[in-house]
Amino acid sequence: MNCRVCGGEVKQFLDLGKQPIANGFLTKRQFSKEFFYNLKVGVCAECAMVQLIELVPPGNLFGKNYPFKTSSSYQMVKHQKQLADFIKKHALEYSGLIVEIGYNDGSFLKNFKDYRYIGVDPSSLPKENSHIIREFFSPNVGNFIVESVGQAQVIVSLNTLCHIPNLNELFEAVNILLEPGGVLIFEDPYWDSIKKDTAFDQIYDEHVYYFSVTSVEKVAEQHGLKLVAATWQPVHGGSMRYFVAKATTRTFILKPPEVPEAWTLIEKATSLSDETFNGFQDAIDRKRRALQGVLATTEGKRTVGYGATSKSTTLLNYCNIGRDQLEYITDTTLAKQGKYSPGQHIPIVSPDEFHKNPPDYTLLLAWNHQAEIMEKEKKFKGGWIHYQRGGWQV
Ligand code: TYD
Ligand code: ZN
Repeated sequence: MNCRVCGGEVKQFLDLGKQPIANGFLTKRQFSKEFFYNLKVGVCAECAMVQLIELVPPGNLFGKNYPFKTSSSYQMVKHQKQLADFIKKHALEYSGLIVEIGYNDGSFLKNFKDYRYIGVDPSSLPKENSHIIREFFSPNVGNFIVESVGQAQVIVSLNTLCHIPNLNELFEAVNILLEPGGVLIFEDPYWDSIKKDTAFDQIYDEHVYYFSVTSVEKVAEQHGLKLVAATWQPVHGGSMRYFVAKATTRTFILKPPEVPEAWTLIEKATSLSDETFNGFQDAIDRKRRALQGVLATTEGKRTVGYGATSKSTTLLNYCNIGRDQLEYITDTTLAKQGKYSPGQHIPIVSPDEFHKNPPDYTLLLAWNHQAEIMEKEKKFKGGWIHYQRGGWQV
């Protein structure tokens, strides 16, 4: 296939088999109609963009959006507050406009109440806010904002850009909206962290791209922009925060760094050499056998899953972990409770159920919220099964 970003040749290096829609939680009646696709990943020989080979057609019956409110995780709220403080100090003047692509529940822009701000999100949660444009971010939306209130000094996007298939249109829209001295700051799971930790459960239908410094540099270049800095972030198992400015800018708004190491561009880690990509599938297969082995040793005991994440759909289906291994998965999202997990059809239950009827072992599926969950479930006396970071711990 050809690269969605530059048209170059994409070489497949990973096959995670037939998978259901990651957020396709379903009722019993829908089991027979469940949709599956081939989850395969490749890398572009020209621009190094790691991307899905096959995309699920939009509007799929089972691709329901279960908005996870960022504000329901105190760690994410703290992370966002730190970024907001940084922006106020280094990038945004009081008179400047800040635009967020992917407004979610407004938990990030809440930090900018005294500023001029706009959130763009087709499915944002609050309905009554005049600062929201309920649409996909596009050149049209960019032009609309420029004509109505002017260009943006800062554009922010957290865990959204990797979901957008037409990245070229997105960057074109950024170029329209950004002030000459402005900056786009975005964060997404970092390909090299996924690779290092064999965190293959980050790979699913909604994550079209797995960015690296190299590939972001290339896509920015194609649109008259340039990557000026990138800093690693310890969220979602390892993310990268990218800073992108106009290629021609001389009056870059970012003020001199307070913490110099935060400004060093991370090594260009994505090389197309074989050892980078070969071996990834083998490492994942070893991890699969290890997980299956651990669950086999808990046979006869009651084991459940914690957190019906999108990630867990890839994990459970690739490792073929079903109701024989996990009695249920507990999750705080009301709309998921009472339904069944995609592919494996494990029942999703409320945390109440988990507290009333605690199992012997709990497989932590929402591992990106580990610290918070361990704190919250201090009373759980059974064993936790941790599979992330390439290793095991029971
Ligand atoms: P999320 O972090 O968005 O992961 P993904 O992108 O893989 O879906 O989702 C976290 C899920 O875990 C969400 O369904 C809510 C659930 N959850 C709990 O059940 N309990 C908790 O304490 C936390 C933090 C999350
Ligand atoms: Zn490419």
